[in-house]
Amino acid sequence: MNMRIRKATTRDAEALCDLNEEFNHVRVPLLLVEERLARNRKESVFVAKMGSQLVGYACLQYALSLCYLHPWAEVTEMYVRSHVRRKGIGTSLLRAVQTEAAKRGVDQIIMLTGEKNTSGQGLYASSGYRASRKYVYTKESANEASHGPLASSRP
Ligand SMILES: CC(C)(COP(=O)(O)OP(=O)(O)OC[C@H]1O[C@@H](n2cnc3c(N)ncnc32)[C@H](O)[C@@H]1OP(=O)(O)O)[C@@H](O)C(=O)NCCC(=O)NCCS
Repeated sequence: MNMRIRKATTRDAEALCDLNEEFNHVRVPLLLVEERLARNRKESVFVAKMGSQLVGYACLQYALSLCYLHPWAEVTEMYVRSHVRRKGIGTSLLRAVQTEAAKRGVDQIIMLTGEKNTSGQGLYASSGYRASRKYVYTKESANEASHGPLASSRP
């Protein structure tokens, strides 16, 4: 299989827009993707290329706090096109992400995946990650004033 993993460049922006739309169902404008690939130092993006096509991508987001000695990082996106799954591409993307994280001094990598996401769970477990049972709380916006109190509108 002619497959290569490398860091994304701005020339990958259009193909990344397509991959991201497939995965997240969001069409991020091309210019924004180009801009973030070029300037966002808090994120590393890796792509998997087969022949002339991008077939997968992974994003790693860095966080640094005064509360801890080292930065930590989150794999926020991990996606491989369905027709090329189970060929080791996800594992190779994860390996590239880990190498980059180590270069940046990251001492812990986390990722969130769905309770029923067997492929995500299978990939992470096979690469040595262990699930920790924590609750994840989310809210659409930090701005209560513009959205109203969410808690009181729910049963
Ligand atoms: C998760 C995903 C990235 C895995 O990519 P992949 O290229 O198929 O992964 P790999 O081929 O490297 O798989 C490595 C191992 O992970 C496990 N695995 C992968 N897919 C699996 C599945 N559907 N069910 C169970 N285990 C699975 C297996 O142990 C596999 O090794 P094996 O093929 O020798 O049995 C891919 O399935 C995908 O894009 N899914 C949709 C998006 C998604 O759910 N992303 C992750 C959560 S955010």
